[in-house]
Amino acid sequence: MSSSLLLTLLTLCALTTPLVAMPAPTCRFHGYLVKESLKLLRQLGGRDFPGSCLPYNHNISFPDSAFPQASANRLQCHQALKVIYALLEGVELILANSTCPSTWDESTLDTFRNLQDQLLDQGHCFSDRGSSELFSAYFNNMTTVLEQEVGSECGWAVLKKDLVTVLDSALHKYHKCLK
Ligand SMILES: *[C@@H]1O[C@H](CO)[C@@H](O)[C@H](O)[C@H]1NC(C)=O
Ligand SMILES: *[C@@H]1O[C@H](CO)[C@@H](O)[C@H](O)[C@H]1NC(C)=O
Ligand SMILES: *[C@@H]1O[C@H](CO)[C@@H](O)[C@H](O)[C@H]1NC(C)=O
Repeated sequence: MSSSLLLTLLTLCALTTPLVAMPAPTCRFHGYLVKESLKLLRQLGGRDFPGSCLPYNHNISFPDSAFPQASANRLQCHQALKVIYALLEGVELILANSTCPSTWDESTLDTFRNLQDQLLDQGHCFSDRGSSELFSAYFNNMTTVLEQEVGSECGWAVLKKDLVTVLDSALHKYHKCLK
């Protein structure tokens, strides 16, 4: 590889992952990045969960059972991280393909998405087709609501609420797995 091509590639990498100086040597989920994601989500804006959205909330039910009961061993940790990965991946697909609500702060959203790219990149070994399938009904329902003009506000509210809830509880329950 010519050195100028290498330089171009390195520059590209530096541009796409501005918060990481070097590629992560191992595949892992960094707890501090998850914590930072949660903080950004809470700063995104939008109202507290609107009461009028409760019916949608019931129709979009996050598959909690995908999570292992405990974080006592490596197997359970691996399963927990696979579920978090599938959730973040699905959310990123939706965000990449939609217009987010105008009530959300654009620069916070950009920073959040940048962070998600890093998390997905660094945790690539937790990518798992089985987990994605578990979430397919969830994301299909979510997409359906987001595509309705009347329901889209609720779709976004549910998406944000579920993400905050799951990341918050994962940070507590699986803190040993999220080094
Ligand atoms: C929830 O799902 C039920 C059954 O599919 C449907 O009849 C109802 O209209 C849905 N509610 C909303 C708010 O989408
Ligand atoms: C998706 O929507 C259908 C119909 O309203 C409902 O029966 C099902 O429980 C929902 N699944 C998820 C994971 O939200
Ligand atoms: C992206 O949005 C288009 C138009 O709304 C839709 O047809 C397509 O299926 C979406 N792709 C994904 C990956 O969600």
